[in-house]
Amino acid sequence: MEARANNTPGNAVEITDLEKSFGSVRVLNGVSLTIKSNSILGLAGGNGAGKSTLAKCVAGHLKHEAGRIERNGVVAMVPQEFMLIPEMKVYENLFLGRELHRHGLLDKKEMIRRSAEALAKLESDVHPEDEVAGLNVARRQMVELAKSTVFPSSVIIMDEPTTVLNRDETDVLFTLLRRFRDGGGSVIYITHRLYELPEICDEICVMRDGDIVFHGPAGGVTPQEVARLMAGRSLDSLFPGRTTVSSNAEPIMEIENVSAGNKVRDVSFSLNRGEILGLTGLAGAGRTELAETICGMRGKTSGTIRIGGEPRRIRSMHDAHRAGISYLSEDRQGTALLLKSSVTDNTVLASLPSYAKHGVIDRKQCEATAKRYVEEFHTRTPGINAPVNTLSGGNQQKVAIAKGLDVKPRVFIFDEPTRGVDVGARAEIYGFMQSLAADGMSCILISSDLEEVIGNCSRALVMRGGELAGELQGDELTEEEIMYLATGIK
Ligand SMILES: Nc1ncnc2c1ncn2[C@@H]1O[C@H](COP(=O)(O)OP(=O)(O)OP(=O)(O)O)[C@@H](O)[C@H]1O
Ligand SMILES: [Mg+2]
Repeated sequence: MEARANNTPGNAVEITDLEKSFGSVRVLNGVSLTIKSNSILGLAGGNGAGKSTLAKCVAGHLKHEAGRIERNGVVAMVPQEFMLIPEMKVYENLFLGRELHRHGLLDKKEMIRRSAEALAKLESDVHPEDEVAGLNVARRQMVELAKSTVFPSSVIIMDEPTTVLNRDETDVLFTLLRRFRDGGGSVIYITHRLYELPEICDEICVMRDGDIVFHGPAGGVTPQEVARLMAGRSLDSLFPGRTTVSSNAEPIMEIENVSAGNKVRDVSFSLNRGEILGLTGLAGAGRTELAETICGMRGKTSGTIRIGGEPRRIRSMHDAHRAGISYLSEDRQGTALLLKSSVTDNTVLASLPSYAKHGVIDRKQCEATAKRYVEEFHTRTPGINAPVNTLSGGNQQKVAIAKGLDVKPRVFIFDEPTRGVDVGARAEIYGFMQSLAADGMSCILISSDLEEVIGNCSRALVMRGGELAGELQGDELTEEEIMYLATGIK
């Protein structure tokens, strides 16, 4: 990542009175903002505040209706939702639409070389000739990051780049961003991980409902204050308090010696009724693979799964639903949602049979359900019949959760449920999870956010290399102990 030096030092982008609407919905209300050279600007705001829209206008991906954007150099952008073509190789994606040529022919060798170089700077193990379809979300994110750096630019916009990255990967990214800035570049950095703001930013800007409500030096505002500015009110504590499962609680799901090739190896545990069980570990430890195996999305090579004491054969998501298991995938755009379908259709997607009356789907009832979840989660949408791809990232996540809940599962496996969700909505989701547990539903919470696991669970499993490395309970459940087990250092 090298910054192309600016001719005129000072400002990289100057935005004046920018207005943008989608149909009758006004999303940017005359935004004015200056982005300096040699600077990292953090951009925070609640789900649907307009951050991605502003970013896309600055990058030139969206057209604004009024106002002005002056760019002093090339703007590159890492979008919030992946824009990669899964069937293509990594290097083909990196150079898509801007392929390199030599003597009139595609210069494959050079494209592969530059791709490898960009990936190496990110310390990624992705290979330029890997097919994107075979990569997990963290690796796809690396490809998106690499894509923004194969050509020189003076401004890089990153829209929630770290939601799927672990701490080490985040550190590598931050080092690159600082180097880019010190070489004269500017960064617009969008995040819901508010603690990242003082760490990486020079300035902070907070958006609310299409307006900028704060802009100042990063040292002048704490993450707590940013959260308050985002919400326009002060937020109560983020975690509603741990669940307590009485000691004679009955196991609802028993996993016995379950393996899936070498990704999941001989895992056994039981989940109690009304429990929120944490499942954590480093990226690649096999948490998602274990969830996929339980839900029949990944072939089980041995072992038994019992639900309510009965062994169940689960070979597809459909079987899982019938056994009373819901799964919220970490790959929202890939498997959790049908992007072009409406909020209503997505909400009832997995529970549709329950809306049939004499073989006919009761649309009114489907819509009533969608409406209820939209109200409950404060989902910002133009309407329940709007396609989900018109919702902001965090609001799409809320629809995906509603879809899983509407199956009325006995067991709900949440895989990184608060990915891209703002602090306020995050607290709502935790509260919701806790009240479901209180009503007897059992949850498995897969998360890399240790604070999230400790705040919500009274017991957590830690995975390492496809195996269970250990179980922590009560007072043992601390970040330190989790890290010991996750890394195997102790
Ligand atoms: N293509 C579209 N058509 C209609 N409405 C849209 C479209 N894209 C975005 N919107 C609306 O614009 C508003 C702002 O969306 P935006 O994606 O900019 O929010 P955001 O601040 O990035 O939120 P998040 O934190 O959830 O990513 C949302 O209410 C969204 O529903
Ligand atoms: Mg966004």
